[in-house]
Amino acid sequence: MIVQRTVLFFMILIFLPLAAGSVEKPYRAKHAMVVSADARASDVGVRIMRNGGNAVDAAVAVGFALAVVFPEAGNVGGGGFMVIHMHDGRSATIDFRETAPAKSTASMYLDSAGNPTDASLEGYRSAGIPGTVAGLLKALQMFGSMSRARVIGPAIALAKHGLLVNERLAGLFQNYKDKLLLYASTARFLSSKGRLPQEGETIKLNALAAALQRIAATGCDGFYRGKTAQLIVKEMQQGGGIITAGDLARYAALVRKPLGGSYRGYEILTCPPPSSGGICLLEALNILEGYDLSGFGYHSAKSIHFIAEAMKRAHADRAHWLGDPDFVKMPVDQLISKEYAMQRRKEIDSIRATAQDDVLAGQFPTQEGNNTTNFSVIDAEGNVVAVTYTLNDLFGSKVIVDGGGFFLNDEMDDFSAKPGAPNTFGLIGAQANAIEPNKRPLSSIVPTIVLKDGKPILVLGARGGPRIISAVLQAIIDVVDYDMNIQDAVSMPRFHHQWTPDTLRYEQRAFSKETLDALMNAGYHCAELPFPNAGAMECIAIDPETGIRYGGEDPREGGVAAGY
Ligand code: DON
Repeated sequence: MIVQRTVLFFMILIFLPLAAGSVEKPYRAKHAMVVSADARASDVGVRIMRNGGNAVDAAVAVGFALAVVFPEAGNVGGGGFMVIHMHDGRSATIDFRETAPAKSTASMYLDSAGNPTDASLEGYRSAGIPGTVAGLLKALQMFGSMSRARVIGPAIALAKHGLLVNERLAGLFQNYKDKLLLYASTARFLSSKGRLPQEGETIKLNALAAALQRIAATGCDGFYRGKTAQLIVKEMQQGGGIITAGDLARYAALVRKPLGGSYRGYEILTCPPPSSGGICLLEALNILEGYDLSGFGYHSAKSIHFIAEAMKRAHADRAHWLGDPDFVKMPVDQLISKEYAMQRRKEIDSIRATAQDDVLAGQFPTQEGNNTTNFSVIDAEGNVVAVTYTLNDLFGSKVIVDGGGFFLNDEMDDFSAKPGAPNTFGLIGAQANAIEPNKRPLSSIVPTIVLKDGKPILVLGARGGPRIISAVLQAIIDVVDYDMNIQDAVSMPRFHHQWTPDTLRYEQRAFSKETLDALMNAGYHCAELPFPNAGAMECIAIDPETGIRYGGEDPREGGVAAGY
């Protein structure tokens, strides 16, 4: 099935007429659906809903299941964001972003010459305090209907069964071999007789099963205190890390109001800071509302030009203004206002690209101071959940907690180690995103729900660092402006601009030769993104008339929709 869909995707790429219109038929279900990066996790979510659980129960079960079957990004040692909309109108964002350890300092990743090192990316000191367990359990407690034991049970069963190494995972282990084997606990966990698990072998996950059982039994205390916490602290002490028992005990997932906006009559519910994603998405959509994208044509030089210019400005504002709202004051309302978008449009030339140095962050006189995975769920009642959670890089810090059986994140790299110095995604930040104890690093994660007349019609999200924002933005535009079905919106080649570097990156065959020439003539520096590097999305669309749920599975990672 997955192979067939992937083949179909390549056929679409080859024969794609560069015009709007749907090509690929999405997976459909009448009542409930999960789309995630792994078939086993999607099945877990569907079973939960068949057995009477709601979308939140299912999302929590999928989150724990992915921690077992998708270890390169699914996690209990990372963090993320979730946007929930219940059919009775309640909505919330659960912010389970990692926090900086209390012992962290603004200059902790600079060498003696003041230059950033890669200690923010790998090893013990790259990890923030994990948020996933607290986040999933907070969602369950607020909106779920099942017990912890029921929603974590499937993940425990999967872990007891062990992890069958598929081709993808075997390849990743091989690619990351040198880095993974640097850490004694990871080497012990992954290699027997000095070699990494091969395709077809099964990795024993007894330690992870036990860690999950402790969470099922005692909730957050089963992770942030007691045995698992002790194992994390011991691992830190052995490897020179700085996370303490106090850091773990202090961690709390936060419930925030989703950021609200609109685009051509559709209501958008998205992720507030400390993710930059929602602000960038709404700023870009507000700017683009002033242009007739559908009249310009799908992936025409003109539509790409305006989308890229909108992205550049949103990213310039992100770099200057955004950080953890509990630490910095940000002009959020101004940045996502229609008036600000109007001002921004005045700066955009109708033909020429604006050079990077000429795109400045907005100024607001009223300002007072200053390998991720996504999954989407809908149940029979119409409750919807969009979740993106991450270890940051594939396998995060590459450090496995000995005796815990899970990877720790390297989310500290999402802070700005030094103003103006790019992080691993080429993103730069300012003081607003400097490292401070207990602060959350800025994210690009942007789980998003689109509503029409109060009812959800799209459940969206992606992985891919800053390309997450471009992916979600283009999916909304593809559906709203170009009338695509959700599968096409997810599959179609995408492009990306993040202001700095000043490069318009595009997937192979996203643009015709003529379009590319026109863009270069307009002043864009263009570069092809190696496949599959434009993020990956696992999304759901709901037909407002029939209520049919449609899945958008990303062929870039072999995503799988399941439902009934
Ligand atoms: O929060 C962020 O923006 C990043 N840590 C996300 C990283 C990511 O998406 C990597 N994925 N493929």
